Amino acid sequence: MYTDVHCHLLPGVDDGCPDWDASKACLDRCRSEKVRAVLVTPHIWPDKYPNRPAELRERFAAWSSRAAGLGLQLALGAEVYYHHGLPEDLAAGKLLTLGGGPHLLVEFPVTLQPRGVDETFYRLRLAGAEPLLAHPERYVFAQRDPRRLAALAESGIAFQVTTHSLVGTFGPQVQRTAFQMLERGWVALVASDAHRPDARPPLFREAVRVLERRYGRAAARRLAVQNPRRVFEGLQVHPVPCALQRRGLFG
Ligand SMILES: [Fe+2]
Repeated sequence: MYTDVHCHLLPGVDDGCPDWDASKACLDRCRSEKVRAVLVTPHIWPDKYPNRPAELRERFAAWSSRAAGLGLQLALGAEVYYHHGLPEDLAAGKLLTLGGGPHLLVEFPVTLQPRGVDETFYRLRLAGAEPLLAHPERYVFAQRDPRRLAALAESGIAFQVTTHSLVGTFGPQVQRTAFQMLERGWVALVASDAHRPDARPPLFREAVRVLERRYGRAAARRLAVQNPRRVFEGLQVHPVPCALQRRGLFG
């Protein structure tokens, strides 16, 4: 049973599901994907999606009571857009951590690697938050050279790879970058980053099959079951070494 800790199923607050029907279709898809716990992570991105925690909490309460009969465990977090003032925003109550635990899901700009991340993340950690880097394989600078994220990984920042990247939805370069990061041991967990039932729906089973084939069942379970569950419960994640499995003649 999987736990999805990054998706945009809370309707009407960002570029994810526009309404209840789309959200319900995604929740049904979660069930068929064997996802049993869903942590919704609307964007908090001041220039684009200026969501405020109080309003998100209100919307989440209404949405989750409507979804109550579906047999899914639901929780609220956010995907926060990177800027140097994140520690101050956290202190001012302008951000939401994942399920109210220590993890703060942070996304970078897609093209340019921001400067000063080490210091910002250090200050977030001093404030008790644990940054979790959203979909590093999708950043253009990391595709060109994954080593540009090495210092961050070595400082113990956990990476979240998107399930769609593993199955090739975003093309071979994103997929290859995801594999490289997994094989460097930088990735703690996978999540769907689902947006809508038609484009980028919740997806786990096919991605887990890819992980099992490449890295074996134990690693796949850690990435898709155990660490996501630990994030959902507010616990620290464990590193996941991923060694390519030897294949048989017909493997
Ligand atoms: Fe996202």
